[in-house]
Amino acid sequence: MLKKIAIFASGSGSNAENIVLHFNQNPSIKVNLILTNNSIAGVLDRAKRLNVPTAVFSAKELKETNTIPSLLKEYDIDFVVLAGFLLKVPDSLIKAYPNRIVNIHPALLPKYGGKGMYGSRVHEAVVAAGEKESGITIHYINEHYDEGNIIFQGKCEVSPSDTPDDVANKVHELEYKYYPSVIENLLNQI
Ligand code: GRF
Repeated sequence: MLKKIAIFASGSGSNAENIVLHFNQNPSIKVNLILTNNSIAGVLDRAKRLNVPTAVFSAKELKETNTIPSLLKEYDIDFVVLAGFLLKVPDSLIKAYPNRIVNIHPALLPKYGGKGMYGSRVHEAVVAAGEKESGITIHYINEHYDEGNIIFQGKCEVSPSDTPDDVANKVHELEYKYYPSVIENLLNQI
């Protein structure tokens, strides 16, 4: 049975592209739809180049209408992947996809997580705190930001001379290395 993924992204979409490319050779798993709340997000250009259908929606639509659940049903989505998605997933969507929505956070949760902690803010906080390591956390989504059950964590060293950008680059490498295979392992179990 073909298992179909929807990816939600708000920005550049480098993780989304990486995930699409990873499954392009997989006959039983496919990225069927890429959705964004940002009409000028780089992920839209990537999706177009990768021939993946897209949908753009507003925060209001996500929060107050059934547009997104209906769209996921229309595309027969089995599993939802957040990759740089900055809005809170409505409880209705979490209920529609129990243990079937995952997110990647660019730090070692529970530290450096929660509302407003995204992108360079995370790496700036890690460097400012003098942390010796950082990394990624892949977790299920629940009703609270960045608090769902942790599925996987990957670590990288942070040296005293590292800038937040240096940390960001190391973290992005971990994201590209692990997110697709973690998703594949989860999908092989459903
Ligand atoms: C990544 O750092 C991811 O960990 C975080 O948002 C960023 C998305 O980057 N959730 P991109 O849009 O995939 O390039």
